[in-house]
Amino acid sequence: MVTSADGAAWMKGLSAGLSGQGDRRIFGVLRGLADVVLAGASTVRTEGYGPARPRESWTALREGRPPAPPIAVVTRRLDLDLGGPLFTEAEPYARPIIITTESAPQDRLDEAAKNADVIIAGEERVDMLAAVRDLRGRGLGRILCEGGPRLNAQLAAAGLVDEVSLTISPLLLGGDAARILNGVASQTSLVLAQVLEEDGFLFCRYVREAQDGPAG
Ligand SMILES: NC(=O)c1ccc[n+]([C@@H]2O[C@H](COP(=O)([O-])OP(=O)(O)OC[C@H]3O[C@@H](n4cnc5c(N)ncnc54)[C@H](OP(=O)(O)O)[C@@H]3O)[C@@H](O)[C@H]2O)c1
Repeated sequence: MVTSADGAAWMKGLSAGLSGQGDRRIFGVLRGLADVVLAGASTVRTEGYGPARPRESWTALREGRPPAPPIAVVTRRLDLDLGGPLFTEAEPYARPIIITTESAPQDRLDEAAKNADVIIAGEERVDMLAAVRDLRGRGLGRILCEGGPRLNAQLAAAGLVDEVSLTISPLLLGGDAARILNGVASQTSLVLAQVLEEDGFLFCRYVREAQDGPAG
């Protein structure tokens, strides 16, 4: 996640204005490390997600794994561009995944299943523990959540966040943008494992304090 110095998780509705060269490099490395990229439907819609494209620099990072991770979208309504690049341009080894509920509209589910794997994890709302358990069962244990804040808050509340990569951008924005967690309150104690700096941007990597124990 990237945030302004005063904690805004978006600028004019998008994360791009908060980001910079170093942030984009780290974003790429994190994707290279991931077995699957998890994102909320709103992030996928507003940020115009396509499939993760393999990069040359990932060759060593992904040894023994497919060249790029699939994108998994958490959604109840499936109000997604199911005929768009995310679903039609993904390579077979990175077939997108829809994580949804029993109450999802059947016609959208049928449409989605043409180009995506569908995971049903919950009745009315996706149960994050069940979703993560299912991903792990598919061998996708290294899960990179790229947001947005509403999805992040649920994962943290379920005790499923064990590492946070946070870029702090040298900007003050004010306004009413959410913080990187938005929604249900929770508490996760973190240890600051690493800090890098470039051009006034801080890149922080936190890991969850050991005594919280693993979830799921
Ligand atoms: N600063 C950053 O690093 C960063 C990163 C990512 C995103 N963003 C910004 O964050 C904003 C979007 O984030 P957001 O927090 O508003 O939304 P979000 O978390 O990306 O997505 C929320 C949507 O995800 C689905 N969803 C979430 N929890 C669910 C559950 N338990 N069960 C079923 N569906 C669930 C719902 O989709 P449906 O409506 O389809 O049912 C919901 O509307 C954008 O402005 C984006 O630019 C910033």
